[in-house]
Amino acid sequence: MPEVKPYWKNYIDGAWVDGGSGKLTVENPATGEKLAEQAIASAADVDRAVQAAKRVYLDEAWAGLRPVERSRKVQAMGRYLLENLHEIAELLTLEQGKPYWEAVIEIEGSARYFEYYGNQAETVEGRSIPLGDGYFDFTTHEPMGVSAQIIPWNYPVEMIARGIAAALATGNACVVKTAELTPLSAAYLALAGEYAGLPQGALNILCGHGHEAGAALSGHVDVNQIVFTGSVKTGVAIASAAAKNVVPCVLELGGKSAAIVHADANLDAFETDIRWGIYFNAGQVCSAMSRIIVHESIHDDVVERASKIAGSLSVGAGIDRREVGANMGSMVSLTQRDRAASMIRAAEGAGAIIAAGGRPLNVPGAFLDPTVLTGVTQDMTIANEEVFGPVLSVLKFKNDAEAIQMANATPYGLVGGVFTRDIDRATKAATKIRAGQVFVNEWFAGGVETPFGGYGKSGYGREKGREALWNYVQTKNVAIKLA
Ligand code: NAI
Ligand code: MG
Repeated sequence: MPEVKPYWKNYIDGAWVDGGSGKLTVENPATGEKLAEQAIASAADVDRAVQAAKRVYLDEAWAGLRPVERSRKVQAMGRYLLENLHEIAELLTLEQGKPYWEAVIEIEGSARYFEYYGNQAETVEGRSIPLGDGYFDFTTHEPMGVSAQIIPWNYPVEMIARGIAAALATGNACVVKTAELTPLSAAYLALAGEYAGLPQGALNILCGHGHEAGAALSGHVDVNQIVFTGSVKTGVAIASAAAKNVVPCVLELGGKSAAIVHADANLDAFETDIRWGIYFNAGQVCSAMSRIIVHESIHDDVVERASKIAGSLSVGAGIDRREVGANMGSMVSLTQRDRAASMIRAAEGAGAIIAAGGRPLNVPGAFLDPTVLTGVTQDMTIANEEVFGPVLSVLKFKNDAEAIQMANATPYGLVGGVFTRDIDRATKAATKIRAGQVFVNEWFAGGVETPFGGYGKSGYGREKGREALWNYVQTKNVAIKLA
C-alpha cells in the first residue's frame, strides 16, 4: 500500500492552513481503515478564502491579464496533473475506492479540462450591434468575480477541474469546497495552481462539512456565482441560500437515465455500453445508464448479456486493480453501499427479480456485487430514484411511443440513450427524450467539448463545452453616443 501523508491542510490565500473546525478522518473505503486526517474549515475560514478571491478579482491581477496569459497558466495546471499522474491516481483510488486505472482516466480527464478551457480563454469575444448613425455599440464579457464550487465525492478531482478550468480561463477567482469523504487528492489542484503561477488567492481549496463550510460558502454575500454537483436535496439548499443574495447557480444533480434498446440494436456492441454505463465507478455516476428499456422481443437476451457482464467483474480493492479490464472497486463509503443494498431489497419486495448480484460482499470494505434487476416496472421506486451504485434496472416495452414515455417518466432528465440501426427511430427518440444529452448507439459518447446538464430535477445550466464559459462571465453592453 502506498504511503499517505497523515495530515492534509486546507489551501487559503496561497497558504496551507489548519481548519477552524478541527479535523476529520478520511477512510479507505476498500478496507474501512483510516487513511489520513483532513483539516476542516469553519465559516470563518470560508470567509477568509472568499475575501482572498475577491481581492484577486478586484485588483485585476488575474481578470486584467491578456487572455493568452491566463490560457498558458490554465494549461500548465493540466500538465502538472499529468506529470504527477501516478501519485495522484493512487491517492484518489485509496480515498474514493475506484480502480487505479479508473483513477488514471479521471486524472487524464481532469488535465483535458485545463487543456480545453485554457485554449478557450482567447475565444471569449463580444459583438458590435448596429444602432444607426450617431451610435457605436459593443458587448464585452466580464468575469463574474468569485466563483464558489461545491464538489461531490464521485469524481473528486475531475469535478474540481471541470469547474475551475473554465472559471479561471475566463478570469474568475475560485473557492472550492471539497467533499468530506474525498478531500485529499484535491490538494494536487492547489499545487497545480502554484506550479502554473496563479496569483495568490486566485484558487482556494478547502474541505469542510456541508452544513457548515458548504452552507457558509453558498450563502456568502461576496460570492458571485456557484457551481454545484451532488444530490437534489443539497442542490435545493444551495440554490435557496444563493437566491437570498441573488447569486446564480449551475446545478448538476442526479439522474435516472435510460437506454432505449430496440430489437434491431447491435447487442454485441451494447454489452460495452452496459459495462461502462452502469459499472464504471461502481455506478456512482450522475449520468449512469441506470435503466434499460428494452423491446420485449429481445428482453431475455439483453438480461442474459447484462447478467454475464455483471458476473464477470472482479470486485475488490481499487489499488490492486491496475489494468483496464473486467473489474470494479469499492463504493465510496459503507453508508452509500448500504443505501444501495437497501434499495435493492426494497425493489425485490416490490416485485423486481435479481438476475445478477444483489448483495453486499461478505468482506470488509464498501463492496456491492454488480447487480441486474429485471421485472422492474415504472411504478416502482427503483425505476424513479437514483441508486448511485452498480445497480441496473431492466424494463420492457412493446412500442416506440411507450419506450419514450417510460424514458421520460422520472423527475430527472440528465441524459438518455437510444440503440437502433434505424436512423428515423433514433432521430425521433433524440428529439423526444427530455434530457440535456442523448447518446445514439454509444453511452457516454462525447467529451469535454460537448455540453452537459439536466432537464427537470437533474438541474440547470450546462457544464463542459463552449456553453460552460457563459456560466462564468456576464455580458456588458456599451452604447456610445457619438458627438
Ligand atoms: P451531497 O449532495 O449532500 O454532497 C455533495 C457536496 O455537497 C459535498 O461537498 C457536501 O459537503 C456538500 N453539502 C452538503 N450539504 C450542504 C449544504 N447544506 N450546503 C452546501 N453544501 C452542502 O451528497 P451526499 O449526501 O454525499 O450523497 C447522497 C446522494 O446524492 C447520493 O446517493 C447520490 O444519489 C447523490 N449524489 C449525486 C452526485 C452527482 O454526481 N450528481 C454526486 C454525489 C451524490
Ligand atoms: Mg473516503
